[in-house]
Amino acid sequence: MIEASKNNTSSAIVRYGMVGGGSGAFIGEVHRKAIGIDGKATLTAGCFSRSMPLTLETGKALGVNKDRLYESYLEMAGAEAKREDGIDFVSIVTPNSSHFTIARAFLEQGINVVCDKPLTTNYEEALLLQELAKEKDLLFAVTYTYTGYPAVKQAREMIRNGEIGKIRFVNAEYPQEWLAEPVENDPSNKQAFWRTDPAQSGISNCVGDIGSHMENMISYVTGLEIDSLSARLDRMVEGRKLDDNAVIMLNYKGGAEGLYWSSQIAWGHDNDLSFRIYGTEGAISWRQENPNYLRIAKKGEHVKIASRGRDDFYNHPGSYVRLPSGHPEGYFEAFANLYSTYIDALSMKKNGTTPQGDQLDFPTALDGAKGVRFIEKCVESSEKKSAWVKFQEKKER
Ligand SMILES: NC(=O)c1ccc[n+]([C@@H]2O[C@H](COP(=O)([O-])OP(=O)(O)OC[C@H]3O[C@@H](n4cnc5c(N)ncnc54)[C@H](O)[C@@H]3O)[C@@H](O)[C@H]2O)c1
Repeated sequence: MIEASKNNTSSAIVRYGMVGGGSGAFIGEVHRKAIGIDGKATLTAGCFSRSMPLTLETGKALGVNKDRLYESYLEMAGAEAKREDGIDFVSIVTPNSSHFTIARAFLEQGINVVCDKPLTTNYEEALLLQELAKEKDLLFAVTYTYTGYPAVKQAREMIRNGEIGKIRFVNAEYPQEWLAEPVENDPSNKQAFWRTDPAQSGISNCVGDIGSHMENMISYVTGLEIDSLSARLDRMVEGRKLDDNAVIMLNYKGGAEGLYWSSQIAWGHDNDLSFRIYGTEGAISWRQENPNYLRIAKKGEHVKIASRGRDDFYNHPGSYVRLPSGHPEGYFEAFANLYSTYIDALSMKKNGTTPQGDQLDFPTALDGAKGVRFIEKCVESSEKKSAWVKFQEKKER
């Protein structure tokens, strides 16, 4: 008998709304399906597009009542806050430059927020969101999807337990091929168009869109804090307005060093996020395209492949395993794991309990702010001919 180990600990179904994610959009549908896996929250309201007919069309297809479909996110935030049966949280899945104003509108109305990455297009605004959420005692999550994988959580636990010793060197890569040609010139390719447009994407495309995932992943798995970095951002495709390839060297506090590469012109790579972490006693590596396995090399031992669902995982990562080994879990499950933890934490708060420790194992607004800091510092360094720049996070964790 196979049972999902992410049991439904919510005492009541939680209601959520969505901004963005209209028909033809990419990530909104992924969020909805991922939430649906555990069935802990119901889609109750939406402003799925800036076009009301599109919002109505999407809302109808998703079974959302017409009176909970809104022309603008501002109207939605105000109206939902007034209702007794208003939404408990909103998922924001619009292009980057709109995240700040949308998230702020919901926080100001006392509504919890899940926002996709990058959190905002500048660090100050990201910190403002973090402070507002704290002041209003609201739960804020940023969907850095890839930390939702059980194998990633296992790597983190192994490092926390000293299994590879003191970290000396970190390598992270995130190559993709989808922008190897100027596909943004085709008006039907909306995802490419807005990501390469500074007005909608922010100051970086490649680091903002995928490089920030590397930063979050390494920060999560290793706990290392960046001290300084030197970056080179390039536009390999002629005429492109923002970067499509980035090489970043890092110094972490405590002496470890790192090298990250993100690229959208790397033929042959679909979505090839990976990390390799080398310590004094061993190494761990993982690939997003084969996410159920960890490669572990310990000093003096044969190299091992640890399989999610087959081999012993620590309790916390093990609690996210849904299927026996050999039945692949993937992107939807990783997303569902973030949402499952977030919704459980929200339910605990609603029931008067304060979630703590692993009960809050999802990326927060502070993690989101750190990601935005990373993007800004990479751009700053690149503009200074790859000079080393100090990271100087303003908030201590
Ligand atoms: N976590 C991940 O792995 C991941 C993956 C892909 C995208 N993302 C992030 O998700 C966000 C959306 O990316 P996408 O690829 O889905 O984009 P998309 O272009 O496919 O979808 C954006 C949607 O937002 C809607 N929209 C825009 N402005 C709006 C507004 N003011 N009100 C209501 N709706 C509005 C559009 O109509 C569209 O439906 C981006 O910030 C991106 O970085 C995250």
